Amino acid sequence: MFTKRIFIFLAALLLALMPLGYESFNLNGSSVVFAANESYQTTANLNLRTGAGTTYKVIMVIPKGKQVTLISKHGIWFKVSYSGKTGYVSSTYLKQLTSTSAAKTNPQTVKYATTDNLNMRTGAGTTYKVVTVIPKGKQVTLLSKHGTWYKVTYSGKTGFVSSAYLKQVTSTTTPKENPQTVKYATTDNLNLRTGAGTTYKVITIIPKGKEVTLISKHGTWYKVNYAGKTGYVNSQYLKLLTSDNPKLTVKNGITYVDGIIVVNKRYALPSTYNPGESKEARAAFNKMLTDAKKKNITFQVISGFRSYEYQKNLYNRYVKTYGEAEASRFSAKAGHSEHQTGLTFDIGGPNQAHWLTESFDKTAEGKWLAANAHRFGFIMRYPKGKESVTGYMYEPWHFRYVGVERATKIFNSGKTMEEYYGFLGQ
Ligand code: DAL
Ligand code: ZN
Repeated sequence: MFTKRIFIFLAALLLALMPLGYESFNLNGSSVVFAANESYQTTANLNLRTGAGTTYKVIMVIPKGKQVTLISKHGIWFKVSYSGKTGYVSSTYLKQLTSTSAAKTNPQTVKYATTDNLNMRTGAGTTYKVVTVIPKGKQVTLLSKHGTWYKVTYSGKTGFVSSAYLKQVTSTTTPKENPQTVKYATTDNLNLRTGAGTTYKVITIIPKGKEVTLISKHGTWYKVNYAGKTGYVNSQYLKLLTSDNPKLTVKNGITYVDGIIVVNKRYALPSTYNPGESKEARAAFNKMLTDAKKKNITFQVISGFRSYEYQKNLYNRYVKTYGEAEASRFSAKAGHSEHQTGLTFDIGGPNQAHWLTESFDKTAEGKWLAANAHRFGFIMRYPKGKESVTGYMYEPWHFRYVGVERATKIFNSGKTMEEYYGFLGQ
């Protein structure tokens, strides 16, 4: 922790002139609709709306624990009927009760079809001996998964095949295990690979603007499903389309709550989002400083707007020094830093010994900011004792501009932004 601030400066010097990519993109919002006949139970009091989104009118509130019948799916929004009424609910708060689909399939009987002539080998790798060549279009039964290699049976034989040439026929995951459907759109033509890295084989190229469904996250690589194929893509070229929380809205890949941007370990900004420092936030900071000076208190911005690329390098440097687990307690991965919004300032006082360290809260300016920043629209984003909520250790120097009204409400609630608005931090 001691050398943390040195890294900020080093990174600042090295990266100040780094060129930035800027790309704009248009996407058609699309929804997947299919008939089903499934029952779900509400896991919370749930708004039944006239359309698939939080902007639609609430028809009624379905109490927690009630049963609804699925009519169709529209991203994370499900059209359901409940007690004679029909409308849309966020599937985040639904638990599946019954299924007519393959969802209940025993994993032992999960079947795949080969998408090409496929070598069945004695082990999980191309160095192993070929047992037989399975012709394209044949069905194999999954026994177990070993990374990208699957142990399967085919025509009485057992062996390993590369899953890159398998297309799933039946489902392994029940909706219970993966209840939230998070969708992204590709912002460029994107390689779908067999593993989480550029060294892995390309399964297919997903065209720009296509929709993929998130399966799991592996650092910056996301395991996704695209048009029946499963693989890994670099999340840098993905833009969030739907939110997993009905309180949040997503526009152009940016998540909002109460009209302001949400950024944390769970909700990222697109890599192309590069707004620079907010004039409004800087004006509020200046006003705050003027007010503080009346009490003989002074401070300055140590670190303000940081681009995606800047944050990427900063985080990677911390990881090299502290290891990923420790670095992640105080530094955000690229796309996950509030500094990328241009609305956030790390603030320090005259004594640099207290910069970016916990002892800042013992200084006069640290105390003044903790008690007064909300009056100027800033909240201390990572308060003490809230690491399990925000994902970050106590940072008495990191202030996020949210506007005076919101900041005052959040400050008076004694809650973090996550707790106040009711969304997850990680
Ligand atoms: N220090 C905060 C968490 C950031 O890196 O944005
Ligand atoms: Zn900060």
